[in-house]
Amino acid sequence: MEFPEVLIERLKKAKKVAILTGAGISAESGVPTFRGKEGLWSKFRPEELATVEAFMSNPKLVWEWYLHRREIMSKVAPNAGHYALVEMEKFYPDFTLITQNVDGLHRRAGSQKVLEVHGNITKNKCFECGEPFEGEINLESGGMPLCECGGRVRPDVVWFGEMLPERALSDAFDASSRAELFFSIGTSALVHPAAAMPLTARRHQAYLVEINLEPTPLTEYADFAVQGKAGEILPQLVEILKK
Ligand code: OAD
Repeated sequence: MEFPEVLIERLKKAKKVAILTGAGISAESGVPTFRGKEGLWSKFRPEELATVEAFMSNPKLVWEWYLHRREIMSKVAPNAGHYALVEMEKFYPDFTLITQNVDGLHRRAGSQKVLEVHGNITKNKCFECGEPFEGEINLESGGMPLCECGGRVRPDVVWFGEMLPERALSDAFDASSRAELFFSIGTSALVHPAAAMPLTARRHQAYLVEINLEPTPLTEYADFAVQGKAGEILPQLVEILKK
């Protein structure tokens, strides 16, 4: 793959780098993306299941969707794309990996500074009081899992219409604003506020790179947009860094 000289220079000289990842980076690990055409749940849109309203009206359906995804995610492993980002982190004094993914694969691969702005699917919390819930979730045995306070237990992820974790969100925008080089990887760049991060970086003079299988609404704003698999392109960038 041919990369532009400007990108190679930034890659080698930058001190401040920020990355935004989405479901596409985990696709090569076997985690289905949200807006793909395949899969058991493709007849539901994420906007219909990942909401407070959906949980209130049909908690069983929402839990089934999360348990199904949890099951998939418990069986997968990080791929070459995740590992390339672990390598990249070592080259920069200021490196922030912002992920919309709840699968925890960046941390499992070994990335150190990870902001999980949409939460983590392995954790639960109370829908009412917000306290973490450590117990088992078993829909077969006793219906809805309940917190000690009597509230229903839910996955500890961010749903549409909810605020993102405040600290992670402000750290993510800070990192985007100071980045000299910003990568948007495997995200459809449709869901805000995460989708605003690459544009924030661009506005603050970062060189913006997009890596995705297909064009997105972000593509026209990227300094360099490459269409291909994250697990194939990211290791090539690491090779350049190592030279
Ligand atoms: P999407 O499913 O919307 O987009 C995944 C993107 O990854 C698509 O643009 C694909 O073309 C691309 N892609 C697939 N395989 C790839 C590969 N091997 N290499 C590179 N790109 C690849 O997922 P997100 O953008 O992550 O939020 O979705 C954003 C948010 O919407 C999610 O965090 C979730 C969802 O609803 C909440 O649940 C709040």
